[in-house]
Amino acid sequence: MAEQELLQHSQSEYLELIAEIMDIRKRGEVPKAYVHTYGCQQNVADSERIKGMLKEAGYTFTENKEEADFILFNTCAVREHAEERVFGNVGALKNLKRKHPSILIALCGCMMEEEHVAERIKKSYPFVGLVFGTHCLHQFPELLYRCLVDGKRIFVRDNDDRLVHEGIPVHRDGAFKGWLPIMYGCDNFCTYCIVPYVRGRERSREPALIVKEAREMIESGYKDITLLGQNVNSYGKGLPDRPTFSSLLREIDKIDGDYWLRFMTSHPKDLSKELIDTIAESKHISLHLHLPFQSGSDRILKLMNRHYTREKYLGIVAYAKEKISSVSLTSDVIVGFPGETYEDFQQTLSLIREVGFTSLFTFIYSPRVGTPAASMDDPVPAEEKGRWFKELLSTQEEIAASRCASMVGETERVLVEEESKKDGVLSGRTSGNIIVEFEGDRSLIGTFQNVKITKARNWILNGELVK
Ligand code: SAH
Ligand code: SF4
Ligand code: F3S
Repeated sequence: MAEQELLQHSQSEYLELIAEIMDIRKRGEVPKAYVHTYGCQQNVADSERIKGMLKEAGYTFTENKEEADFILFNTCAVREHAEERVFGNVGALKNLKRKHPSILIALCGCMMEEEHVAERIKKSYPFVGLVFGTHCLHQFPELLYRCLVDGKRIFVRDNDDRLVHEGIPVHRDGAFKGWLPIMYGCDNFCTYCIVPYVRGRERSREPALIVKEAREMIESGYKDITLLGQNVNSYGKGLPDRPTFSSLLREIDKIDGDYWLRFMTSHPKDLSKELIDTIAESKHISLHLHLPFQSGSDRILKLMNRHYTREKYLGIVAYAKEKISSVSLTSDVIVGFPGETYEDFQQTLSLIREVGFTSLFTFIYSPRVGTPAASMDDPVPAEEKGRWFKELLSTQEEIAASRCASMVGETERVLVEEESKKDGVLSGRTSGNIIVEFEGDRSLIGTFQNVKITKARNWILNGELVK
């Protein structure tokens, strides 16, 4: 779309224009939108902004695609499996569009920044009317308006990725747990990872705007706020006065109220001792560090372009354990990176034993088009990688179980999140992000409670409310 065609109106004016035309375009009493999000919390936060814009244009939300006027999938490109699921689910919309031709089907998010994906959608999925990439989120009102008015297909991606767009309305999914993006993009180019290609260059939001948003969330009842960025430890690069992530945390921590502050994701190469000191000294930061290590082998870490060694990683962990005795550590790990041997993999197992993670997000390496690792020699067969993966899972299960078992008898502060599947049983999380189940009334949902841990079931704890 040509630059001069854009911005005939401001984006909020487009929302008003949509509200006017939707009076005649909707199928029911009010226009309904179905928004489905794949991938990480960054995508969840983006979807909350898209929903904010839809809400201002007069839409309500539905979980039922059948009754929707607008269907949007916010997609993830991080692994092949994630992409295949999206293609499968988009294909399944063909009949719905045939049955109700007025439905507008749209795709956005990380996959749409990949040229080969956008081409495939254009050719093979003609019932998809709107496709926009991650850098065009702020233009959504205008794109939606044009689709509704012209009825033509619109494909946009790859706009300027150096800007941060503020002032987009937000419709948060949760009432007491919320996401707060502090930066966008990634400059690290880990050799396996597609994120820097689909999310663009790293850029940080102004600290004053983040603190303001955090304050508004706390004042409106949020009890658990997670600051989001692909590498929060390099927050502030390129901003005036070069604020650090620790300085930002300290500012937010000063806000009065009863709440937990979390953040993700930390990159070990940029993690400072100051950050760990900040957590230890803070009032609200949860005693939890999500610190992806990806591999326990120095040789593989180098091939991954991670810029730290096993020794450095273990040094950070030791410092964190020294300063915060009950710190809960979680991580991401990849099995079967190109060229990884069983000996390398054993280094990963020994690292997880040494650290004692509360939980792990485990992935089998998935080649991504355009990344350096995709053209590296990858001789280990998939079945072999599958066996390593199972070994990793069973090792971690033992570690998590013994960590949870060591908490029996302690009293933990828990944020009550929901009713569990069993009647009268509630489920919540500790500051270290461990799930605890206990009997209680559903009126406690959204409050902090003290729970005495009575039993450990692998990675879930059982307990009793302390009156
Ligand atoms: N920025 C975060 C996480 C980004 S993606 C970080 O650096 O930690 C989330 C996780 O997906 C990564 O930590 C990694 O473990 C995994 N991942 C990314 N690309 C992958 C790939 N090509 N194959 C398998 N797992 C991958
Ligand atoms: Fe991907 Fe590495 Fe950036 Fe994380 S830090 S998003 S793994 S390139
Ligand atoms: Fe996926 Fe994009 Fe997040 S690729 S993991 S949704 S940044």
